[in-house]
Amino acid sequence: MMGEQREKKLKVVTIDGPSGGGKSTVSRKVAAALGYTYLDTGAMYRVVGFQCKRAGIDLTDAAALSGLLEQLEIRLLPPLHEGDDVRVLLNGEEISAAIRSPEAGMLASQVSALPAVRAKLTALQQEMGQAGGIVAEGRDTGTVVFPDAAWKFYLDAPPEERCRRRVAQLRAKGQQVNEQALLAQIIQRDKQDCERTVAPLRMAEDAVLIDSSNLSAEEVAEKMLAVIQGLEHC
Ligand code: DC
Repeated sequence: MMGEQREKKLKVVTIDGPSGGGKSTVSRKVAAALGYTYLDTGAMYRVVGFQCKRAGIDLTDAAALSGLLEQLEIRLLPPLHEGDDVRVLLNGEEISAAIRSPEAGMLASQVSALPAVRAKLTALQQEMGQAGGIVAEGRDTGTVVFPDAAWKFYLDAPPEERCRRRVAQLRAKGQQVNEQALLAQIIQRDKQDCERTVAPLRMAEDAVLIDSSNLSAEEVAEKMLAVIQGLEHC
């Protein structure tokens, strides 16, 4: 794309793709290199899933769900330690650790198929990104949330590879993991995220596809920065 056209676009980088492909680490690195803010949209879906479960909301009860969404005040804060996930506050309560389990991921995936949830979180994300200077990570940030983003990437890898990475991450945090069960969850989550009617996971037509299978997070981030700095053609 010509530099001039880029100028007219929103100074936003979007990084979408299925779970476990290394999006979070890469997004943090790209954001740090550019001096941009990292927007973890998945964390927001995790908050809604967590709160629905905790409040015992029946997901088919539109009134109850809408009441919950109206009262939702989500704050994303930089982590206390470099390399950690963003800190997440729900109505002032810190729930950073509670939303990071594989189960919380499944819950997030379930609520993310609900149009009311998507409408609410998409609007919040657009508000957070309206001034530009952000790296947004998720499933639909390039297709729906920021269709005018200047740089879009789609990070993919086979489910087995993504499972291996997730196992290593969870073990590093001291959590016990059943690899077979985790792989089944990843495949199930991919299916749910790709098959939902509203804003399904798919690559934006103008996104750059990167397969992270044989690349470190550092290498993926370098590839992205090369594209952003115009050193590589899309
Ligand atoms: O990236 P993550 O694993 O934290 O995301 C959790 C779930 O949230 C994911 O399975 C689908 C949903 N999600 C979404 O639907 N749209 C986004 N932009 C981000 C996440």
